[in-house]
Amino acid sequence: MHQDRRGLDITAASADAVAAFDKTIDSYLGIMPSAGPHLKATFEADPDMPMAHVLKSYFFMLMGTAALQDRSQKAAAQARGLAQTALPREVLHISAAEHWSHGRKHAAIATWEAILVENPLDVLALRLAHHGHFYEGDGQNLRDTVNRRMHAWTPDTPGYGFVKGMQAFGYEETHAYDAALRAGQEAVDAIPENPWAIHAVAHVHEMRDEPDAGIAWIKANEPGWTIANNFRYHVLWHRMLMHLDRGEYKLVMNLYDTELWDAESDEYLDLLNDASLLLRLELHGQDVGAQRWQALADKCRAHTTDQVLAFIDVHHAISLEAAEKDGAKALLAAMQNYAETNGEDNATVTGYVGLPLAHAVVAHRNGDYDKVVETLLPIRYEIYRIGGSHAQRDLFAMLLIDACLKCGRTNVARMLISERLGRLPANDWTKAQARAAGLSG
Ligand SMILES: [Fe+2]
Repeated sequence: MHQDRRGLDITAASADAVAAFDKTIDSYLGIMPSAGPHLKATFEADPDMPMAHVLKSYFFMLMGTAALQDRSQKAAAQARGLAQTALPREVLHISAAEHWSHGRKHAAIATWEAILVENPLDVLALRLAHHGHFYEGDGQNLRDTVNRRMHAWTPDTPGYGFVKGMQAFGYEETHAYDAALRAGQEAVDAIPENPWAIHAVAHVHEMRDEPDAGIAWIKANEPGWTIANNFRYHVLWHRMLMHLDRGEYKLVMNLYDTELWDAESDEYLDLLNDASLLLRLELHGQDVGAQRWQALADKCRAHTTDQVLAFIDVHHAISLEAAEKDGAKALLAAMQNYAETNGEDNATVTGYVGLPLAHAVVAHRNGDYDKVVETLLPIRYEIYRIGGSHAQRDLFAMLLIDACLKCGRTNVARMLISERLGRLPANDWTKAQARAAGLSG
């Protein structure tokens, strides 16, 4: 029997296959572009390795597009065909891959959690549980799924620094900022090429409204995150949010055109970063022009009927409607149909939060600010269910304040601004809204 780098038994034809698999996992944890080539090498060493097929299924799901969901299902089915040769832990992974690729995300998360009860060093299950809780908006489990395993991890365990990076992000999303900074620093000290940990610390600075410290951190750690796959754009996006906080609009626009925008990319996270950044620029009073929106919408249009994550669909609605009137109409119809007829876990969230949110962003674009307020105000404390981070979802809080002011609901605006000032007393954008709402202090 072979063992992986952390000593877990693993089914494989050779030590070479296990070594290639270990490298694939390391690349995945490091968010590196080498994950794909290493997985290919794993298959070359052992075409019938159950966990290689499972990982292939997972990787397709991580891409977040409908076309690859089909391929994920096929990879999971191939893994199932190898279940006879697999260990109990691996059979659970096969089940998780089947669940996830068929839209049963809750069952997939429960399966990863079940694997981790007996195998706290199964870092693949841990990273995927972390990912799953993140897109459920479940901050407590995002944090605790890592902390529940720490009893088994020591600084000498391979990948420890990646796990500390996950822990840092869990602390950040549950507002334990000092703990997040400590875990994030320890993570980067252990493994400097650690984009997720660097990103977690950037989040802390964003939430604490410390743009100077955040920009300095991201710049100082460039060698540790610019080696990432397209995730490097997301770290850059965080830096750009902080430049926005400092009112450096020209710089942000320039960074958008020269570094953030990737004409070739169709990665969902890139499309989200771009939409969110352009809309934030507009909420800061900047004219981003039509061309940037159109180029972005051209990419989103191909994903009109994807419905892989409501969080993605809502961002596509922003871009499609910004590019042209009724540009998001087909997407809204597809989301409605999906919510009403599909049994996937994401369909429930789409109906409950995704659709109202998508309608709200479209209404905002069309100047129907009353509708924005009436749609968002009742659900604003439920928006977290769409997943993503506090920083990403903050866009919707900004949108609601903007709509309140534009449709003359000044008292509601004052209430929301006052709330926001409680969290971000020095934030220039919030202070500007306060002045617009006639608040003095
Ligand atoms: Fe982020």
